[in-house]
Amino acid sequence: MTEDPFTLMRDIYENGGGQLYDAEAVTQLEHALQSADQAEKSGAASHLIVAALLHDIGHLLNGDEKGAAERGEDALHETCGAAFLSRWFKEEVTDAIRHHVAAKRYLVATEPGYAEILSPVSVRSLELQGGAFSADEAESWSRQPGAEDAVKLRRWDDMAKDVDAVVPGFEAYREHIENSLRSGLT
Ligand SMILES: [Fe+2]
Repeated sequence: MTEDPFTLMRDIYENGGGQLYDAEAVTQLEHALQSADQAEKSGAASHLIVAALLHDIGHLLNGDEKGAAERGEDALHETCGAAFLSRWFKEEVTDAIRHHVAAKRYLVATEPGYAEILSPVSVRSLELQGGAFSADEAESWSRQPGAEDAVKLRRWDDMAKDVDAVVPGFEAYREHIENSLRSGLT
């Protein structure tokens, strides 16, 4: 592969990111850019801005995701995305992505009122993803590496579904991507 990681990620989003984000009103590309913008505005570190930008890349890599949903299966987009990105990106990026679905299960279990702010699509996928954690599951999950970052990512994710948002394009994240590559790839 000759493309640099920035160009590769941008091409994946620009070629496949025009599809709607499940039944949400925004596209995958809009959702990615809004998530990254939320992270940037909250003063997050580069690796977390990149995690926010790329957290749903697993949705774009799986050609059979709709089929899986129709069969009542969870396509595990967080695992697939983290595994794909681990070739280029530091673990702190991929850990947050790998755990962003579990972070929803954690927040539903531990934060009163969190379930009410979820979009109908997120509520539906929560069931396929295993539902709210039990108290024991929440406690042991919160000690995983990347759990704290994943909770932050989850909150930006939940806010990034605004049809009227005007946010910077993919190019704005070139430097953050370059700062988040594994050593030897910079
Ligand atoms: Fe998302």
